[in-house]
Amino acid sequence: MDALRITGGQRLHGTVAAGGSKNATLPIMAAAMLCDGPVVLSGTPQLTDVCTLAELLRHLGVESHRDADGDVYLDTIDPTPTTAPAALVRRMRASFCVLSPLLARRGRAVVPLPGGCNIGHRPVDLHLAGLAALGAELRIDRGFVIAEARQLFGAKLNLRGPNGSTVTGTANVLSAAVLARGTTIITGAATEPEIVDLGRFLIAAGANIEGLGTDTLEIHGVERLSGAEHEVIPDRIEAATLLLAAAITRGTVSVTHVRPEHLSAVLEALSAAGALVAVGNHKITVHAENRPQPIDLIARPYPGVPTDLQAQFMALLALAEGNSVVADDVFPERSLHLAELARLGARIQRRDRLAMVEGVHRLSGAEVTATDLRATAALVLAGLAARGETIIHEVEHLERGYEDLPLKLNQLGANITRLTAKPAVAPPAGSRPSRQAREPATPITT
Ligand code: EPU
Repeated sequence: MDALRITGGQRLHGTVAAGGSKNATLPIMAAAMLCDGPVVLSGTPQLTDVCTLAELLRHLGVESHRDADGDVYLDTIDPTPTTAPAALVRRMRASFCVLSPLLARRGRAVVPLPGGCNIGHRPVDLHLAGLAALGAELRIDRGFVIAEARQLFGAKLNLRGPNGSTVTGTANVLSAAVLARGTTIITGAATEPEIVDLGRFLIAAGANIEGLGTDTLEIHGVERLSGAEHEVIPDRIEAATLLLAAAITRGTVSVTHVRPEHLSAVLEALSAAGALVAVGNHKITVHAENRPQPIDLIARPYPGVPTDLQAQFMALLALAEGNSVVADDVFPERSLHLAELARLGARIQRRDRLAMVEGVHRLSGAEVTATDLRATAALVLAGLAARGETIIHEVEHLERGYEDLPLKLNQLGANITRLTAKPAVAPPAGSRPSRQAREPATPITT
């Protein structure tokens, strides 16, 4: 496992572009299995999660490659496999999105239950209930979901759970309903921009969907989908993380390739925390001079502040001029970052479902360990603002969902170096040394 070394204290300045959305790309790639022709996706980010899904799709008969312009091509060359290998699904929960495309297009899907996760309890009951409503026969056998249906049929169903609507559950049921016979009405559908993007892709392939962006979707099933070309939306979580980097270092950063309308609640929270926010055409600028102001923040489903930014906001509020309260209505147990932020000097107490954040004057560099993708981003932000050197171990978590974040931050004036772990076991005699072995410490250059 590699580490990042961050020498904190630099105010960030400059302009940087956000990449394509991870959480839009993954379900769209899975949905390519529904299509009778090739799919071309532009604007997809280069991330390990995207590579993992491409590998899983290869096991399921879908060839994919990225061309020199970064466009991803997907084409089904063997429509017979129906079993998703457990090792790959375990690596990434979003792999569960292959369930519906397999079921709807191939009549059968055998997909491991994705299991637990570092951000809390993550059941898939709503996914399964939605598919059952469309007529799928479902059983669970030795940790695998086995779903079968010769034909799916339109139905009325609801996807709202105790903590809001399920995002990938909506992706799964929508992907099945587009090929079901008749009309499906999904109430309690997720309204996240990533679901709207999936819907736009499916429509480009010939699907008939109404109500995208609202919590009620009406889907008129079609016999087949064709190939399609689609440009993926920018990543709102990456964009916001970069803007939070400006706020926490008291700098000025403009993020381009962004959809400001996807970040309204986030920009409001940043303003309330004392940052100056300017919105332009596909561009947002954040400028901060002083310590942040304390705010109370509740992460909620879209259009609220996303749970995927809760940890990064907590890093900012750790330095606020006063006390803040943070809660996460979507994943109430998403709190592993608290202990790591504390190592940098943050004062945060958990009281039931609330995190009480007592703002401190300064954070100090320390050795910390990444626990999950967004917690790692929070540690990077805290490290940028901390005095001295911060080492973040197990930084591979970051690469699952942020395209070149350290590089982008360095372009804005940060001082981040990647420390590559030495291989634990000596390579066999005569073998070519791995890239890691050849480059014990790889500086991330601008
Ligand atoms: N839930 C249920 N039953 C279900 C499914 C979910 O009760 O069948 C609950 C969950 O336990 C949670 C809430 O519903 O409390 C919302 O979970 P959701 O299903 O929406 O999460 P997800 O679809 O598994 C996606 C993102 C997550 C993001 C959440 C919430 C992808 C690939 N993942 O997960 O992103 O946190 O929505 O917005 O789109 C990340 O990118 O770091 C990440 C974790």
